[in-house]
Amino acid sequence: MRSFIIAAAAAASAFLPTTVLAQTFTKCNALNETGCPNMPALGGNATFNFNDTLYNKIWTKQNQGKVDWSEKGARFTIERRGDSPMIQSKFYMLFGRLEVVMKAAPGQGIVSSAILQSEVLDEIDWEFLGSNNTHVLTNYFGKGNTTDYTRGKDYKMAPPQEEFHNYTIDWTKERIQWWVDGNMLRELKPEEALNGFNYPQTPMNIRLGAWSGGDVENNHIETVKWAGGETDFSKAPFTMTVQTVYAHDYTTAKEYSWENMDASGSWEKVKVIEGKSELLQEYQKPSGVRNRWAALSKGAQIAIIASIIGFVVIVAAIVLFYFIKQRRAGAREYKAHLAEADKEAAENLQYKQYQQQTPGGKFGYNRL
Ligand SMILES: *[C@@H]1O[C@H](CO)[C@@H](O)[C@H](O)[C@H]1NC(C)=O
Ligand SMILES: *[C@@H]1O[C@H](CO)[C@@H](O)[C@H](O)[C@H]1NC(C)=O
Ligand SMILES: *[C@@H]1O[C@H](CO)[C@@H](O)[C@H](O)[C@H]1NC(C)=O
Ligand SMILES: *[C@@H]1O[C@H](CO)[C@@H](O)[C@H](O)[C@H]1NC(C)=O
Ligand SMILES: *[C@@H]1O[C@H](CO)[C@@H](O)[C@H](O)[C@H]1NC(C)=O
Ligand SMILES: *[C@@H]1O[C@H](CO)[C@@H](O)[C@H](O)[C@H]1NC(C)=O
Repeated sequence: MRSFIIAAAAAASAFLPTTVLAQTFTKCNALNETGCPNMPALGGNATFNFNDTLYNKIWTKQNQGKVDWSEKGARFTIERRGDSPMIQSKFYMLFGRLEVVMKAAPGQGIVSSAILQSEVLDEIDWEFLGSNNTHVLTNYFGKGNTTDYTRGKDYKMAPPQEEFHNYTIDWTKERIQWWVDGNMLRELKPEEALNGFNYPQTPMNIRLGAWSGGDVENNHIETVKWAGGETDFSKAPFTMTVQTVYAHDYTTAKEYSWENMDASGSWEKVKVIEGKSELLQEYQKPSGVRNRWAALSKGAQIAIIASIIGFVVIVAAIVLFYFIKQRRAGAREYKAHLAEADKEAAENLQYKQYQQQTPGGKFGYNRL
């Protein structure tokens, strides 16, 4: 029976889309290496609601931990030590706008984040500590330079864990702005970031997720302190929810290339390859990730429902048929078993009778 269930599940899964979880790009530091792969551009704007899909053709799930979509949006759930559920966009933007409507995860040591990050470690961040329900942290990095600790700045706000808020980053070559619910908290100019050298300016993708900075077994004690203390995993699950992401690439590119990059890490050395962005096309396709269901006509929806019902009925019929067959086969087997037992008993009886009739018997037994 088990093998049948496995076979049925395999047959059923053949009807489901396969999810590609593998990361498409290897880490390659274009500041000092050549041949780093091109990056697909968004080349336009797109909104992701995560209320009926995780858009797995456009976003990639990373790391251990649960990410699922729900009516309220994408949920990133830390259930146990080692979980750091995250999704990242396959597309990159070279200057652009990111609006994230989200609710941060609670829990001491838990960090929720919505960031832009490049392959050479330029980064623009929103971060939330699970132990702090009054403040949000803004931060940035240029080329992974972590030596300066004045980059991060906290801002007081309405409870980020209890309500959804709109966190917007608007990033151009002239300035970076962080906005919460339409109020600008912070603006950074290149000259404030090591004369521009530490100013984020290479193509970045979007990374959303939660992790446990308070995991004492896996983190440095300073990280645990920064994150607000040790995480008590017996209080899990800790969930961050992202309702909407709006992304707008300020360049209308197909891809970005590192071909001309040098140690400067300057945006001027990023080669913009013009053309139609494949991921934007995927997003815009009526049959693509955005409106797969809604875009179908009523007739097509009915046909799909009918064929799903048909499939379920067929599977049920196969299962039923198999059970009946099993029962019949079982009955036959049971009868055969009884017959065999009876046959043995009968033979024994014959033997006993034979022995009784033959004094001394074959083995010298006189009686049984
Ligand atoms: C390139 O630079 C990074 C960061 O400084 C360094 O970790 C890496 O080893 C360097 N790679 C090469 C090939 O020099
Ligand atoms: C987003 O892009 C579409 C075209 O794909 C355009 O019609 C719309 O105005 C854009 N929206 C914003 C806010 O830029
Ligand atoms: C998802 O959210 C969007 C925006 O709020 C809404 O228009 C749409 O109907 C929702 N879809 C589902 C399946 O709930
Ligand atoms: C939250 O963070 C702010 C800024 O760092 C700090 O002043 C405040 O005390 C923190 N609150 C808690 C409960 O840790
Ligand atoms: C990193 O940034 C600091 C100041 O923010 C600067 O003094 C230092 O030279 C930078 N390091 C590199 C490798 O760029
Ligand atoms: C988020 O806020 C910005 C203003 O800061 C606004 O332009 C934008 O429409 C809002 N986005 C969403 C998805 O609510």
